[in-house]
Amino acid sequence: MTHTNEHNSEQSKADARDAVTANGYTKKWWKEAVVYQIYPRSFKDSNADGIGDLRGIASQLDYIQNLGVDVVWLSPMYDSPNADNGYDIRDYRKVMSEFGTMADFDELLEAVKARGMKMILDLVVNHTSDDHFWFVESRKAKDNPYRDYYLWREGKDGKEPNDWVSYFSGSAWKKDDATGEYYLHLFAEKQPDLNWDNQTVREEVYDVMRFWLDKGIDGFRMDVIPFISKDPNFPDFPDDYDGDYGRVYASGAKLHDYVQEMNREVLSKYDVMTVGEAEGVTLAEIPLLVDERRDELNMVFQFDVVKLDRESWRWKSWTLPGLKAIYTRFERGLDKHCWNALFLSNHDNPRVVSRFGDDSPPYRMASAKLLAMMLLTLKGTPFIYQGDELGMTNYPFTNIAEFDDIQVKNAWQAEVLTDQVEADDYIINLRRTSRDHARTPMQWDASDNAGFTLAAKAWLAVNPNYKEINAVQALNDQDSIYNFFKQLIQLRKETPALIYGDYVDLDPQHPTIFVFTRTLEADKYLVLLNFSNDDTTYKLPVNMRIEQLLISNLREQDKPSLFINLKGWEASLYKFNS
Ligand code: GLC
Ligand code: CA
Repeated sequence: MTHTNEHNSEQSKADARDAVTANGYTKKWWKEAVVYQIYPRSFKDSNADGIGDLRGIASQLDYIQNLGVDVVWLSPMYDSPNADNGYDIRDYRKVMSEFGTMADFDELLEAVKARGMKMILDLVVNHTSDDHFWFVESRKAKDNPYRDYYLWREGKDGKEPNDWVSYFSGSAWKKDDATGEYYLHLFAEKQPDLNWDNQTVREEVYDVMRFWLDKGIDGFRMDVIPFISKDPNFPDFPDDYDGDYGRVYASGAKLHDYVQEMNREVLSKYDVMTVGEAEGVTLAEIPLLVDERRDELNMVFQFDVVKLDRESWRWKSWTLPGLKAIYTRFERGLDKHCWNALFLSNHDNPRVVSRFGDDSPPYRMASAKLLAMMLLTLKGTPFIYQGDELGMTNYPFTNIAEFDDIQVKNAWQAEVLTDQVEADDYIINLRRTSRDHARTPMQWDASDNAGFTLAAKAWLAVNPNYKEINAVQALNDQDSIYNFFKQLIQLRKETPALIYGDYVDLDPQHPTIFVFTRTLEADKYLVLLNFSNDDTTYKLPVNMRIEQLLISNLREQDKPSLFINLKGWEASLYKFNS
């Protein structure tokens, strides 16, 4: 196992830099990998309590492996009172009892490895649960040895220490009765922020990381990692503040010192992958986190795609040129020392086919496949969110009582119940933007509760379309979205140009067609995506000689020249010459 080959980290860095390259990139397993994200609560229930669990995941490893993915990322499965579904951790070294035991975890990890796959875990260390032993102690008294593990401040003129707001509504500060001081929580009140300026806190975190790495896991997805360093003076929002809190909370003065320290102390000693969730980080700042010469993280999830069509819970219209521009910015802003993480959805976003495709019956299949092709042929490590391989759709929410997400409930309290926002306006927006769309149970088959649970009721309602959209159907249908994903993953694996090749957007302004090339020396690929219900004709570049159609959702083998007729939501990948 990896942890037994600890070696001198300076030497390993030097080795890495001399390693094999492709198109100027250092070749790495995690650049070539495809990752599958599991939200354990919603994946598969093994003991009929309505809640997904680790044994449930273990029971579906054939399904995951058959898709061809290399790495499984588990959203938090640690002991937690679930104020934010596990993103509020009470004990970093314990498995959430609803999800099983440490023995179940060990078995799952072993089973994943036995299939030649890897596993990464969610590292949530900007904050803990307020039920964590550190915080229970910390809040007791100003001179408690754990006081300085969190960010405590006196009020200012009888009010909060500054004007920061929580992602989950209201002030980011909460006054605590025991001492009359305030603690910082950028998320829920039950998620107090850790004080990373305290070296003991950092060492505690590194110990937790070693605990899991020594079990043999293969890396971490790091929750809101850019927020760990804060200005200890806590100034108010700047005068030119535009409402984007992330920009203010991210990239504190010591961020890179801390991430470098984490890398030196822990990460460099293992052969692992790391992906930071980079809310608040602009594209221009990404290289500071991911340039391999800086020894910080391997890659980050940048938020331009998340923000393309929404601001907080409010939906806004988006355009294809706007989406395409994000990928051009990546290509220009990340040089060959950097690497990108690609995602179109996750547990914090609505369903990808409902968002960027068309989830109505005539177009759902084709548009979900188009989005799969985009995700798997752009440059970067692709992250697939559970259920997207089935083309799962948004849930038809009509009523506030149907939601579970603390973000939804808190904003309802803060904005609707105070008459700042109309209930209808709120729900109509949530039908497009809520995080709960991604959290409805996986649709395994056409039986009750989609085969997710044998309990009478799942913890969150199953989408009513499960009789048509489910895994059994997908596995039996050669033309399913699942099988299209599978072919694309295979093709990507066999095609270095789709991993390391240069990316060029051939027509950035086209309102409905995304057409780009991936080229690695003589190996040239053309991706043509029609983001529209309508058939259309597109003129290819004159010097382009199409050699072969490699895969398409709607097209038969052909060799178009110059003018190509595209069906609505057609996605085709060609090999070409020029
Ligand atoms: C990240 C997680 C999200 C969580 C938040 C607080 O954004 O992805 O689910 O609510 O951090 O931990
Ligand atoms: Ca269960």
